[in-house]
Amino acid sequence: MNSNVQSLLASGAKIADAALERLLPSTETLPVSIHRAMRHSVFAGGKRLRPVLCMEAARMVAGTGELPDGIDSLGAALEMLHTYSLIHDDLPALDNDDLRRGHPTCHVAFGEAIAILAGDALQTLAFQTIAQLPAPADAVVRILREVSVAVGTGVGRAGGIDTGIPPGVLPPGMIGGQVVDIESEGVAPTVALVETIHRAKTGALLTTSIVSGGLYGLATNPGAAHLDSEMWVSTIAALRTFGEKIGLAFQIVDDILDMTQSSEELGKTAGKDAASIKATWPAVYGIEQSRTDADRLIKEAFAAVEPFAVAADPLKSLAQYLTTRTH
Ligand code: IPE
Ligand code: IPE
Ligand code: MG
Ligand code: MG
Ligand code: MG
Repeated sequence: MNSNVQSLLASGAKIADAALERLLPSTETLPVSIHRAMRHSVFAGGKRLRPVLCMEAARMVAGTGELPDGIDSLGAALEMLHTYSLIHDDLPALDNDDLRRGHPTCHVAFGEAIAILAGDALQTLAFQTIAQLPAPADAVVRILREVSVAVGTGVGRAGGIDTGIPPGVLPPGMIGGQVVDIESEGVAPTVALVETIHRAKTGALLTTSIVSGGLYGLATNPGAAHLDSEMWVSTIAALRTFGEKIGLAFQIVDDILDMTQSSEELGKTAGKDAASIKATWPAVYGIEQSRTDADRLIKEAFAAVEPFAVAADPLKSLAQYLTTRTH
């Protein structure tokens, strides 16, 4: 791994971990079982990619070259949402996994009821954390809406509850993607199906990590004009395109790693997708084409942030890392 990206990931993970440590209730807080379960899954490891992407997007547009104050809390909220999605993804009713981040999954360690509730509690704590961000109220509301649309069933994107998405198209939301993923087990996947699932179940949260970080960075940049200015609109559009490209590439690589790496390297059970007949990118395209597609998407992501010139280098090096990672 390139040493720049290595230090970016290490320092970002440290900041995210400190914020999570501050925000998560202690293991002695009542009821202790759920707080122990939340901490078990959050602090089991994890690359902290969503907080790091969020923070680097914010840095890119904040105008100071520094991380804006409070961005660590937004990053931590995104990691809470991600960890909640993993706890529920591993449940017997979903992927039924017993290993996660190199440790027993939440339901194995704490029982199914507490694992379900720990996921729920991480989700509510995430939104509570966002609501308390030290940014102007209109920007906080914008971030709340952005993130809640992305982790839900995808509705509410363009104004009303059902507007903006043509009939018959799955809107990109994490829960919606998980629904289609589960309902597609055992079905021969088509190109359209697997792309839809990947954009929703994984791409939506990664994209919103970058977009919400950008919104926060703009909101704390005194030179960045108004929320609905042309500058905000074009900046957010570029970040969204970047996020959608790397989000899809990320899940393609996750599918490849499931087939090519060991459980020890992954910290989760390898070979699960084939065993569960999941709709994966390699199942449709094979491994070689999957690698080519991930590389192409990263190049397309680079193009989206070209207008930011060298300020986009950290985001670009993180994107590059996504395709070369081994776990
Ligand atoms: C795994 O995400 C789940 C997917 C969305 C594919 P990560 O690979 O980011 O998992 P951690 O956070 O590092 O454990
Ligand atoms: C998980 O996709 C996506 C979410 C958790 C929303 P996978 O089921 O492929 O993730 P892993 O491989 O278990 O980490
Ligand atoms: Mg799954
Ligand atoms: Mg899974
Ligand atoms: Mg997977």
